[in-house]
Amino acid sequence: MNIFKVENVSKVFGKGEAKVVALDNISLEIEEGEFIAIIGPSGSGKSTLLHIMAGLEKPTSGDIYFYGKNMNEMSKKELTILRREKIGIIYQFYNLIPNLNVEENILLPIEFDRQKVDKEKLKNIMKFLNIENRKTHLPNELSGGQQQKVAIGRALMINPKIILADEPTGNLDTKSSNEIINLLKEANKKLKQTIIIITHNLEIAKLADRIIKIEDGKINLN
Ligand SMILES: Nc1ncnc2c1ncn2[C@@H]1O[C@H](COP(=O)(O)OP(=O)(O)OP(=O)(O)O)[C@@H](O)[C@H]1O
Ligand SMILES: [Mg+2]
Repeated sequence: MNIFKVENVSKVFGKGEAKVVALDNISLEIEEGEFIAIIGPSGSGKSTLLHIMAGLEKPTSGDIYFYGKNMNEMSKKELTILRREKIGIIYQFYNLIPNLNVEENILLPIEFDRQKVDKEKLKNIMKFLNIENRKTHLPNELSGGQQQKVAIGRALMINPKIILADEPTGNLDTKSSNEIINLLKEANKKLKQTIIIITHNLEIAKLADRIIKIEDGKINLN
């Protein structure tokens, strides 16, 4: 079953002199269970593509289907709910809430959704990420790698159909990067979690099932 079908998507920012074609007629499909790496030079449109898949931006033209449903036809509210329930997003700079502790940050989307907290699941995720002994720490009391684990925990907690990660190791040293990538890899293998990651690191990209190369807003098939 394909999760995403991106059909002839273009994204143009600005007008006249300031016009930037960030995406130029991109088409691709993402199947359940895949671990995909998106690579490409700075400014090639990688983040723009991810934002469009997350429903944070609308394409200028073209269509994007999530489980067959055209995202262009979804309201802002529907897209917000989609992100809250089905799409886990991980950023380079973790995006944790500074005055919430580890456990509270992981539970944030669940609380927003007024869902009952699955304590067993929370425990398993903390264990999986090896951050059980940091439960009550605030983000500024954690290393970068640990903060990124919390962001992964928050994404996993909603049981997303897909995790979209924009340079999740971009701010980490080699050791922490490896740890984060191994966790994502394990989530993919053991939990069958579908994952797309953007990375500038070719070693990391090589661990993916499939590499999508973007250049000047186009997919480069070579
Ligand atoms: N909101 C915006 N308004 C105007 N131009 C934008 C906007 N967002 C992105 N762009 C432009 O679109 C192009 C693609 O940007 P994007 O952030 O997708 O690149 P990227 O591949 O993620 O780069 P990096 O590897 O540096 O993160 C760039 O030229 C950028 O300046
Ligand atoms: Mg980017």
